[in-house]
Amino acid sequence: MATLPSSHCCRIYSSSSSLSYSSSLHRSLQRVAVSPSPKRFVVSAKVSQSVLQQNGVSMQDVAPAVKPVENETAFKKLKDGLLSATAGSVEESKDSSGFSFEETGSTVSITVVGASGDLAKKKIFPALFALYYEGCLPKHFTIFGYARSKMTDAELRTMVSKTLTCRIDQRENCGEKMDQFLERCFYHSGQYDSQDHFAQLDKKLKEHEGGRIPNRLFYLSIPPNIFIDAVRCASLSASSGNGWTRVIVEKPFGRDSESSAALTKALKQYLEEDQIFRIDHYLGKELVENLSVLRFSNLIFEPLWSRQYIRNVQLIFSEDFGTEGRGGYFDNYGIIRDIMQNHLLQILALFAMETPVSLDAEDIRNEKVKVLRSMRPLQLENVVTGQYKSHVRGGVTYPAYTDDKTVPKGSLTPTFAAAALFIDNARWDGVPFLMKAGKALHNKRAEIRVQFRHVPGNLYNRNIGTDLDRATNELVIRVQPDEAIFLKINNKVPGLGMRLDRSNLNLHYAARYSTEIPDAYERLLLDAIEGERRLFIRSDELDAAWSLFTPLLKEIEEKKIIPEYYPYGSRGPVGAHYLAARYKVRWGDVGVEQ
Ligand code: NDP
Ligand code: BG6
Repeated sequence: MATLPSSHCCRIYSSSSSLSYSSSLHRSLQRVAVSPSPKRFVVSAKVSQSVLQQNGVSMQDVAPAVKPVENETAFKKLKDGLLSATAGSVEESKDSSGFSFEETGSTVSITVVGASGDLAKKKIFPALFALYYEGCLPKHFTIFGYARSKMTDAELRTMVSKTLTCRIDQRENCGEKMDQFLERCFYHSGQYDSQDHFAQLDKKLKEHEGGRIPNRLFYLSIPPNIFIDAVRCASLSASSGNGWTRVIVEKPFGRDSESSAALTKALKQYLEEDQIFRIDHYLGKELVENLSVLRFSNLIFEPLWSRQYIRNVQLIFSEDFGTEGRGGYFDNYGIIRDIMQNHLLQILALFAMETPVSLDAEDIRNEKVKVLRSMRPLQLENVVTGQYKSHVRGGVTYPAYTDDKTVPKGSLTPTFAAAALFIDNARWDGVPFLMKAGKALHNKRAEIRVQFRHVPGNLYNRNIGTDLDRATNELVIRVQPDEAIFLKINNKVPGLGMRLDRSNLNLHYAARYSTEIPDAYERLLLDAIEGERRLFIRSDELDAAWSLFTPLLKEIEEKKIIPEYYPYGSRGPVGAHYLAARYKVRWGDVGVEQ
C-alpha cells in the first residue's frame, strides 16, 4: 500500500481550513481570504510576495496587514488587548536573543503559565521542542515560562532540558537543535493575580517581538482555581495589541454543570469564545484523530456504522499505576470527571457523529454536540464504581488509594468506573456504549472496541460452537500503547478439515510506519498556533457533556455510594462484568485472545 504524500506538519483539513501550513500559493490566498483571526481584526488581502513564497508559516500568511477595528466599547477594547500596537514599519532588527528578523512579518510568543509545574515539564516544553525540531514552529517565536517560583532564564533552560527528547529517526543534530531551542526560552517570575507582573512580562515579550506583529498564546498550566486571575491579568496587561491572543485552558473545566458554566462566563469576560482553546489531549492522539479518516474515507466501514450492524461499542481506559503525586487533585474529581466525562466522551462523540458537512472545526463540533445532546443522562443503575485497595504481590506492597497522604482517610472517590450509555437517535437507538476507566489496574491501555452483530443464518455455526459472541467480528482501535487497528475475523485453519479460528487483520503502526507518532500535545499546540479549533472543546459541547454526567455525580456524592474495592494491579471490580452482562455484552479486553 502506498503512503499518501504528506509532510509532517503540512496539514490541510479542508478546502476552507484557513490556517494550515501549505506550500501552494493558491492555498495561501485562500487562507488570507478566510481569516480565522479574532473577529475584531480586519485582515487585508494584501500579502507580500515574499510571504507567499515562504511556503507557509501561517501567521505570516494572515497577519501582514492587520488593522484594528475602530474603537467600539471600552470593554471590547479590553478584550482586544489594551496595549498599544508596536507593529508598523518593521525594520531589520534583532531580538534580545540575537535572532535576526526579516523585514516584514509576525511573531508568536508562547507563554507557559505555571512553567514550574508537572505538566509544563512533562508535556508542554517537550512538545514545543518536538515542534521546533520538526520545523513546525514559525520562524519567529519566543517561549516564556511564567510562574511564582524564582528562576533565571538559565535555570528554566536547565529544568526544561532534562525532559527534552528527540525524534527517534533523526537524532544526528539533536544536541544542536536543543541548544537553539533553549536559547528561545525565557522565564519571568510573577504572581498569577498581578496585572503589574503581567505588564512586566508584556514588556519583555515586546523586546523579543522586536516590532513584529505580535501573536500571543498563553498556556494555562495551573490549578483551575487560579485560571480566572491569570486570564484577567494576561488579558488586561499582556494581550497582543494588533495580532491575535489565544489562551489554552487545561482541564478540569469545572466539576459539574454549574461550575463549568461559571468558569466559561468568567473567561468570557476577558476573552471571546474563539480565543479560548479548551484542551482535551485525547483528541490530539493519533488514533483518535484517525477515527474520522477510518470512517469517512473507507467505503467498507461507514455503511456498517449503525445499530443495524453494531452490537455494542466499548471505550476502555486503564492505567497500571495509581494517583501517585496527584491524589490531592484527583480526590476532588474522581475517575468519572477525570477520564469519562471528557476523554472517553469526546471519543464517543467523534465515533458516533453523523458525517459533517466539511472538515471545518465548526461543522465537526456541530455534529459532536448533536450526539451529546441525543444521549440519555447517565443513570446510577447503569454505573459501577470502584476504588483500589492495597495489594501484596511478589513481596511488594502496592498502596491503597487512601494510603496516599494527600487523600482524606475514608474517601469514597472512585478510581474506577464502568458505565452504559445510550444515544437516542436513529443511528444508535438501543446500542450500548460501554465505558470503563480505572487507575491501578493490571495494564495501561486505551482502546475502542466495536463488536458487530452475529451473522444471520451463519452456515458455519456448527464449526463455531455455542459461543456465538466469540465468533462475531470485532474492530479494535488501540489508541495506546502500541497503536494498532485490527479486525477480528473468522478464518479457516489451513488443512484438510474445516476448523475455524479467529484471526486478526492487523494494522500495527510500529510495523507499518517508520515515523514516530507525535505526542498529542504537539498536535494540539500546533493547532492552537495555527488557529485550528477542530480538536478543542466548544462551550456548548462542554455544557452538553456536563449535563449528561452532573445528575449522576451529584447522586453518587449525595448518597455516598460506596465504591467496590479492587486490589491494586487487578482487572477491577467484578461489578463491571455484571453491568455489561445486563446488556448482553462481554468486555472485549478480557480473555486470552485480546
Ligand atoms: P501543578 O500542581 O504542578 O501546578 C503548576 C504550577 O502552578 C506549580 O508549579 C505552581 O507554580 C503553581 N501552583 C500550584 N498550586 C498553586 C496554588 N494553589 N496557587 C497558586 N499557584 C499554584 O499542576 P500540573 O502541572 O500538574 O497541572 C497543570 C494543569 O494541567 C492543572 O489544571 C491540571 O489539572 C492539568 N492537567 C495536568 C496533568 C498532569 O499530568 N500533570 C494532566 C492533565 C491536565 P509556582 O508555585 O511556581 O507558581
Ligand atoms: C489526564 C488525567 O487527563 O490524562 C490523568 O488527568 C491521566 O489522570 C492522564 O493519567 C492520561 O493521559 P495519557 O495521555 O497518559 O493516557
